[in-house]
Amino acid sequence: MLAMLLLLDIKQMFRLTLMYLYAVFVNGKFCKDPKLATAEDIFFKGLNIARNTSNRIGSNVTQVNVAQIAGLNTLGVSLVRIDYAPYGLNRPHTLPRATEILNVLEGLIHFQFNTGHTNAVAIAALSSQNPVVITIANAVFGSKPPISDDVLAKAFQVDKKVVDYLQAQFWVNN
Ligand SMILES: *[C@@H]1O[C@H](CO)[C@@H](O)[C@H](O)[C@H]1NC(C)=O
Ligand SMILES: *[C@@H]1O[C@H](CO)[C@@H](O)[C@H](O)[C@H]1NC(C)=O
Repeated sequence: MLAMLLLLDIKQMFRLTLMYLYAVFVNGKFCKDPKLATAEDIFFKGLNIARNTSNRIGSNVTQVNVAQIAGLNTLGVSLVRIDYAPYGLNRPHTLPRATEILNVLEGLIHFQFNTGHTNAVAIAALSSQNPVVITIANAVFGSKPPISDDVLAKAFQVDKKVVDYLQAQFWVNN
């Protein structure tokens, strides 16, 4: 019995090793044999569901990129759903890897600041399977290690106390 179990293990290990040898990685992501692909590899559920915007900035970004849909690997496209509470803000940011088309589905949004009294929602298409977002406020005031408050006080022409206050905030990644 023990010998049989061992035999199975060795067979399994051999198969895993073979799989590893034949695996193809692109951009650090695994390229699946198309014959082994399943519906889950090209499917994302719940883009229609409103997200919880009860946070300090009043917005919530739902990402649908290669991390959620493995089948997007090498395809250079992804999207996000953005929910905005009234007066919610999707903060100033840059997307170093992607171009973006933003499609407002409902509500009033001005530069992704919801000026309306009701919730708003938008879908953004992005020209990358794995777009990186750099939120300016996080990069400037939430960076680790921190940027010297002398530098920031001079750059923004404010008192160092203001910079220290801003650096002490909890910067959500959204
Ligand atoms: C976004 O909404 C989801 C579910 O509605 C929640 O789990 C998540 O914590 C929210 N994210 C932020 C940053 O508020
Ligand atoms: C939304 O998030 C807030 C803060 O985390 C929480 O208190 C609240 O219960 C959540 N609302 C829903 C509907 O999940």
